[in-house]
Amino acid sequence: MIVIREIDPADLALFDEWYDAFRAGAVAGRSVALVIGREALGYSMRNPSPVKARIAVGAFENDRVLGAMLYEYRLTDNLDTVEVEIDVPPEHRRRGIGTALWQWAVTRTAQLGRTIVQTELGVPSEPWPGAIFAERLGFVTEHVEEQLVVPLPFDEVRLDELRESAGRLSGYRLTSWAGVCPAEHLQAYADLHTAMDQDVPTGGMTREVVPWTVSKLEANELRLNRNYLALVTMAHTEAGEPAGYTLMYLPRADADHAQQDDTLVLREHRGHNLGMHLKLANLDQLSNHRTTQRHLHTWTALTNTAMRKINTHFGFHPVEQHRELELRL
Ligand SMILES: CC(C)(COP(=O)(O)OP(=O)(O)OC[C@H]1O[C@@H](n2cnc3c(N)ncnc32)[C@H](O)[C@@H]1OP(=O)(O)O)[C@@H](O)C(=O)NCCC(=O)NCCS
Repeated sequence: MIVIREIDPADLALFDEWYDAFRAGAVAGRSVALVIGREALGYSMRNPSPVKARIAVGAFENDRVLGAMLYEYRLTDNLDTVEVEIDVPPEHRRRGIGTALWQWAVTRTAQLGRTIVQTELGVPSEPWPGAIFAERLGFVTEHVEEQLVVPLPFDEVRLDELRESAGRLSGYRLTSWAGVCPAEHLQAYADLHTAMDQDVPTGGMTREVVPWTVSKLEANELRLNRNYLALVTMAHTEAGEPAGYTLMYLPRADADHAQQDDTLVLREHRGHNLGMHLKLANLDQLSNHRTTQRHLHTWTALTNTAMRKINTHFGFHPVEQHRELELRL
């Protein structure tokens, strides 16, 4: 009989067994799947954040974990919403384990008084089990991005060509750092994060955007910094006004993967090739901080023509679709 129950993340052996199932289910059939690392997820669960609850739920048969669900919800905003990720390793599929985990999620969501369930899917090809499963439960795809990858170390010849074609940047100054944001840039960096949240396309996903404050940003960066090295380049006008930024993460315990995260150029500063210059400067940082990582990942909405063009110049190639789905209970 399959029994669904919460896992205590402080029980390290059990957490490991749960994480193995989670990972095996998530990566099956995907060539360069990016999955949150064991250390980062374990740390986050054993040291709960004041802004987000994260629960590991396992499907057990005779005390063995056969399937895993990560169940999350924000505690200070987006109070109608929960996020789920259900992963069942291929050898245990089509036995109702995914459905049993889902039923736990439905019950807990009702107990929390929440009504919106969100999930994300990596879809490398069709038909895809996760997509069929989610559609059968009633999820609707609300936003689609392409996940792209470029091999590392970055091709130096291409980098030189890009630098040459980008020319000199005029009217702006670039500042780069690794790790947490220097104190003098905190307010501007917080404001740019707010602008990013407001500007980034998320299709029909329900999302309450809450402005970043310096203290919230500092707390968030301190937590992240334990498990991820952030590489940031920020642009200012000659007069010192912030104009944009780009952000990469090197997960500290992941030998293979690096992530190109946010890139934002504020509306009034678009059209000056700033996106290109920001990314070039941050790639220089990557050369200095990279250890063994072999893949740099990024995500771009299919509708985001400007960013798709930049990604192509940098040699990114698509590996799968990244879908965001939502269901109202
Ligand atoms: C999606 C996933 C969790 C399903 O787990 P599972 O334990 O096989 O799910 P169930 O046995 O409860 O399947 C329920 C129904 O989903 C549908 N389904 C699931 N996999 C399917 C497949 N490969 N082909 C067709 N239908 C499928 C079927 O209708 C199935 O019912 P049936 O077996 O009675 O026909 C599993 O395939 C997985 O881990 N995939 C990778 C991660 C992922 O995409 N997760 C979903 C996002 S949260």
